[in-house]
Amino acid sequence: MKIIAFNGSPRKDGNTSIAIDTVFEELKNIETNQIYLYDYEIKPCTACSACVNNKDCKCAHDADFNKLYQEILDSDGIILGSPVYVASVTGQMKLFLDKLAIVSKANNDPNARKVGSSIAVGRRAGHLPTLQAMNSALLVCQFIVPGSSYWNMSIAGAKGAVSEDSEGIGIFRQLGKNMAWLLEKLQ
Ligand SMILES: Cc1cc2nc3c(=O)[nH]c(=O)nc-3n(C[C@H](O)[C@H](O)[C@H](O)COP(=O)(O)O)c2cc1C
Repeated sequence: MKIIAFNGSPRKDGNTSIAIDTVFEELKNIETNQIYLYDYEIKPCTACSACVNNKDCKCAHDADFNKLYQEILDSDGIILGSPVYVASVTGQMKLFLDKLAIVSKANNDPNARKVGSSIAVGRRAGHLPTLQAMNSALLVCQFIVPGSSYWNMSIAGAKGAVSEDSEGIGIFRQLGKNMAWLLEKLQ
């Protein structure tokens, strides 16, 4: 089995990255890979409807998005992780979510019933709308979305501070355990 995490932070090895790795630690015997969305040039959706007409699981104008979407098609589940930026996801994550949803709907939701979860890390406030933005995309694509012991969030500002939020780390660990349990049931 394989789980791919998409990190919407521009900071390499930052708080979102550590949070994702914490979930990964609980996905024992499962292949994992973390992808930084900022390493790709995802273009904004222009509502051209080419994906709806072509039905080839691709955006006709976005080779980088297509690479990422192929990773999802080849996986058993995904994690979406974003820092809170002005009470929502980062711009790069939003570009990804728009195409994730529209290419999925154009192709009859090819990732339906895979496992999908989201993670938000922020300094003070705005975690819930950030999670809602990512969960909305997962749910509309028919991913099955497990929860944790609390919403999947941590309070952390400075790079690395997520490691000091013991409650947040515990939430991410429990999320990993729930994902592993669900993946096994769905197999
Ligand atoms: C442009 C920008 C906007 C931000 N907006 C918020 C916010 O609305 N609420 C919040 O709690 N933190 C906000 N933050 C802080 C980040 O969410 C926080 O530093 C987070 O830990 C960064 O995660 P990373 O290390 O994975 O990039 C913002 C940071 C930046 C750079």
